[in-house]
Amino acid sequence: MKIAYYHASKFGNGAAVAAEFRTAMAAKGVAVDVHHIREADPTALEPADLYVFSSPGRMGRPLGRARRFLKHAALPAGTRYALLTTEGAPRPDKNTGQMPTAEETARWQKVRPIMTELLDAKSLTKVAEGCVYVTGMKGPLEDGWQAKVDSFADSLAASSAR
Ligand SMILES: Cc1cc2nc3c(=O)[nH]c(=O)nc-3n(C[C@H](O)[C@H](O)[C@H](O)COP(=O)(O)O)c2cc1C
Repeated sequence: MKIAYYHASKFGNGAAVAAEFRTAMAAKGVAVDVHHIREADPTALEPADLYVFSSPGRMGRPLGRARRFLKHAALPAGTRYALLTTEGAPRPDKNTGQMPTAEETARWQKVRPIMTELLDAKSLTKVAEGCVYVTGMKGPLEDGWQAKVDSFADSLAASSAR
């Protein structure tokens, strides 16, 4: 199996996630080619069995450059893809100290839904989605992020083996 991984990391956190994913998959004998979307042509993506797309969040959405990249991504219907984003960790409400519910967060945090919408419009098939949090606006990544990426790689490898 061959995986092509396209990310839009601005501050380096998403690039570190991609590198960890590549290491975890290499241990399973799966090759992952990592590309920054800045250096890739969405109309000429490299052939792969599975594509992983990753973007940081911006105002509840994927980075503009990532949205444009996905909009122009030329892949045949049925191509399998996964999302592995970096997003700001949910924070407690300043007044109540309460953590937002998943429902409350989903009202404004639409990074993965928008990426999904852009790719599903091309009839691609999503096989997994995950997110690694950053604890500040520009990082660092949350504690235990490597384990989170490794378990994402595990589940992807397991689902691909089926
Ligand atoms: C101006 C700005 C706006 C941001 N807005 C969001 C947001 O709406 N949702 C989110 O999850 N993260 C947001 N973030 C945090 C990014 O997710 C974070 O910078 C990114 O994941 C870091 O990844 P990178 O180092 O690969 O660029 C924002 C960051 C900046 C600088």
